[in-house]
Amino acid sequence: MNSSNARPKILVARRIFPEGIERLEAVCDVDYVDQIEPLSKEELARRLLDKDGALVTGSERVDAETIKNASALKIVSNIAVGFNNFDVEALNQRGIIGTNTPDVLTDTTADLGFALLMAISRRLSEAERWLRDGQWHHWEMGRMLGVDIHHSTLGIMGMGRIGQAIAKRGLAFGMNVIYYNRRPLSPELEQACQATYVDKETLLKTADHVMLVMPYSPQSHHFIGAKELSMMKPTATLVNIARGGIVDDNALVEALQQQRIFGAGLDVYEGEPHLHPGLLNLPNVVLAPHIGSATEKTRYLMMNLAIDNLLAGLAGKKPKTMINP
Ligand code: DGY
Repeated sequence: MNSSNARPKILVARRIFPEGIERLEAVCDVDYVDQIEPLSKEELARRLLDKDGALVTGSERVDAETIKNASALKIVSNIAVGFNNFDVEALNQRGIIGTNTPDVLTDTTADLGFALLMAISRRLSEAERWLRDGQWHHWEMGRMLGVDIHHSTLGIMGMGRIGQAIAKRGLAFGMNVIYYNRRPLSPELEQACQATYVDKETLLKTADHVMLVMPYSPQSHHFIGAKELSMMKPTATLVNIARGGIVDDNALVEALQQQRIFGAGLDVYEGEPHLHPGLLNLPNVVLAPHIGSATEKTRYLMMNLAIDNLLAGLAGKKPKTMINP
């Protein structure tokens, strides 16, 4: 804290729910950026100069440069489970705590993954556009034919909490669940998910639906590119609820244009909120604007967990969900 008895000075870098600001203002001096646009990097660094702590979202990049002159900064609390917006090494070097919001969004995000899987497999967006266009005049045997979800093979890339929640949804649909992960799950967890570990290539070649749920890192950059897409079945779908950048969007657009896979359901994009223009013109893709955790209940839980973490760190206690031990 800036001085021993003073209230901590904190930055809230984006608009949050009013109840969150009330909680924070009761115990902190809050520099509140009440706007939906992210701050520029320079402005973020400037506002951090005199702060003890900060609440940020996945759109704020917190790296060596942003925290360089923030000499009092003790903790940065992310309102997101993914923390690829943090340079964890830079935080560690300065002894600054970083926290995220796992667990509270697991099922909500898994639901969205399944919603995208179902929407693309059964061509829901395409069918609705066609109907609204006034093109529906007759029942047709061969119109809007999709691919089955039930009793198909679901391939999950990344078997953390959200991956496991997806696997359980797959079981309810009678799916055969296979997964690829840096390490296989413990036998107990594998048993709970009834999922079989396979290598990346086997998953791509075997799965009817490929779901990406892994964290983004330099190692997972373009984990799915032209080569991987060419291994998938022409009837397979690809769903990405993880992070843009895991998929090479140029390669994906090309594969979708040439119908080398059946379709894709996407919640995240390289360079979002800017989309590859090719995606917008394709019928065989369902697009969502990064809403994996977007239910009212879950967003409140995320906000409150992030605030709990921030206040614990400022009080010298161990936050519940730290990203740097
Ligand atoms: C997360 O929590 O990581 C979501 O993707 C929101 O950024």
